[in-house]
Amino acid sequence: MGIFDFLKGKKKDKILQWHDKYKVNIIEIDAQHKKLFALYNELLNAMYKGEGYDVLEKCLDELIRYIGTHFLTEENYMLKFNYPAYEEHKKLHFELIKTTLNLHKEFRERKTVLTEEVVDFLNDWLTNHVLQVDQQYASFFKKRGYINS
Ligand code: FEO
Repeated sequence: MGIFDFLKGKKKDKILQWHDKYKVNIIEIDAQHKKLFALYNELLNAMYKGEGYDVLEKCLDELIRYIGTHFLTEENYMLKFNYPAYEEHKKLHFELIKTTLNLHKEFRERKTVLTEEVVDFLNDWLTNHVLQVDQQYASFFKKRGYINS
């Protein structure tokens, strides 16, 4: 399915809505996760509106840069609180960064276009990672009393 089919009608299903279930109960990280969702939604909206290459490239660039910022913040918390699965979690971050940077490069070189598959990949990764993998350190921090709720 190409971009045209995508633009015809599935945007609504792919918008990310913030829910409390995504919270890790660290104010800084919850704010970053919300911003990641918002940047993803901006990219989705730009695609839906049929914006040109420059706008899409800017949205994608901003999303990828912020993913990098977020991962560093999160990894610093894990180091600070001696999270035992730090290396494993960091590896997952690295894999996403590698995939998105590659995607960005191909898009910049106009070797690929943003398709529904790309959006699905980002959507799945963001929601599943925040909802499952990030919740594991949140649970560890909570048990150790580093966070309150
Ligand atoms: Fe919030 Fe592990 O990324």
